Amino acid sequence: MTDALDGVRQHYRATGLTERLKTALTALGPEDQRLTPQQLGALDQFHTRGLAATAELAKLAGITADMSVLDVGAGVGGPARFLAATYGCRVTGVDLSEPFVDAARYLTGRTGQSGQVSFQSASALALPFDGGRFDVVLLQHVAMNISDRTRLYREIRRVLKAGGRFATFDIVSSGGEPHYPVPWARTPATSFLLTAAATRDAIEPAGFRTLAWQDDTEAAKAWIAQLRTSGPPPSPNLGVVMGPDFAQLAANLARNLMEGRLGILTAVFEAA
Ligand SMILES: C[S@@+](CC[C@H](N)C(=O)[O-])C[C@H]1O[C@@H](n2cnc3c(N)ncnc32)[C@H](O)[C@@H]1O
Repeated sequence: MTDALDGVRQHYRATGLTERLKTALTALGPEDQRLTPQQLGALDQFHTRGLAATAELAKLAGITADMSVLDVGAGVGGPARFLAATYGCRVTGVDLSEPFVDAARYLTGRTGQSGQVSFQSASALALPFDGGRFDVVLLQHVAMNISDRTRLYREIRRVLKAGGRFATFDIVSSGGEPHYPVPWARTPATSFLLTAAATRDAIEPAGFRTLAWQDDTEAAKAWIAQLRTSGPPPSPNLGVVMGPDFAQLAANLARNLMEGRLGILTAVFEAA
């Protein structure tokens, strides 16, 4: 494990996460009551614009029931469960954080999807799969934690079938140093932002052709403005996952977007 990966693991160490989730979810009903991916949306979609962003990315990627999908940096598994419930596809999630993988398995049991959605702990830089195994790979708000982008995108290309799709939803640098702490890094030591153009320059040489390319910064700003009016959702939210300083991390992300320091990129590529 390199220093950079160790630092990222520390950031997402989430001590006692599954137990905290069990306690928080009593607000939604008893342990044996089946939950829907929608009910969990405020705590298991760990990216800007939550469930709506996952739904849009999945649509752009053209996911269908017969596909095998890999979610790289799957977090606590919200996007994977949503895709399986919406499209009927099989989804595998990998994540560096063992507590997140444990929580993802627990939440998937609570939604009754364990036969269709599975998780394992692994690094995006050494995916534990044979080549050409997946139809679609998703990467949502993960790349900013990874310095070796060449290796990241080559690994994603390796596990995709020829003609498969790579769908990414990223935070990108757009001028000036961000204010820290942010949701993916409490200091700059675990933050490896690239501009949107540099991201494309890293992805295409790994064996990809661009199919869709969208600047979603304005949509993210509108979402933030709406959250400021409505306040945080009353259901259990990402504060349960990341701890009591999450409100400050999220406020800094909002400030960085509003000040034009960061942007949001949605893009879909075809494996050549
Ligand atoms: C902001 S969360 C996003 C989680 C999920 N993609 C979502 O949108 O709900 C970033 C995730 O990336 C994972 N991650 C960061 N670097 C990673 C790496 N090198 N390999 C695998 N997972 C990684 C973290 O552990 C964390 O769960």
